[in-house]
Amino acid sequence: MARRVRRLFRGGRIVDLGGGHGLLAHAMLLLDDSSPAAIVVDQTLPPSSARLHEVLVKAWPRLDGRIVFVERALEEAEIFSTDVVVSSHACGDLTDRVLDRAAAARARVAILPCCHDFATCDAGDLSGWMAAPLAIDVLRAVRLEQQGYRIWTQTIPADITPKNRLLLGAPV
Ligand SMILES: C[S@@+](CC[C@H](N)C(=O)[O-])C[C@H]1O[C@@H](n2cnc3c(N)ncnc32)[C@H](O)[C@@H]1O
Repeated sequence: MARRVRRLFRGGRIVDLGGGHGLLAHAMLLLDDSSPAAIVVDQTLPPSSARLHEVLVKAWPRLDGRIVFVERALEEAEIFSTDVVVSSHACGDLTDRVLDRAAAARARVAILPCCHDFATCDAGDLSGWMAAPLAIDVLRAVRLEQQGYRIWTQTIPADITPKNRLLLGAPV
């Protein structure tokens, strides 16, 4: 995911929402030094996130002091228009909240959705033509475009994860 995102989005602070261990934030900085820093936001940080960060900094000292972990709901995270918001496998409608937060800030955004929840995510009336999870992601892409974003729809290799649809957007 980081490689795909970096082909399109350079610079800006990386904001990894629902980031867990923040591996995506680390990879974004490692692949491209154009971003000075990253913030990993998760309402419950995994206990091993600090240890993993330590190990990664030991292996790549240029990460030192550039990644901050914040234990809070993504709804409370401050996002700026210059940020690059990334979120991998934000379950169900958490992905929609990531998109809403990024669009409200007019920030660039990249999401890799998972766990499509038919009760809380919008599949519209498309399920006669396509599987509901795809319909949910199609509507996400269309909504983002309607909010004045240029969008890119891609996938990452399915052997990394079967939940591999990648949606990227940048304000026009
Ligand atoms: C499936 S995990 C994905 C973690 C990581 N991004 C990855 O790809 O491995 C979803 C994460 O979202 C976090 N989460 C759930 N609700 C959240 C919220 N409202 N605000 C911030 N993080 C949240 C969970 O604690 C969990 O770490």
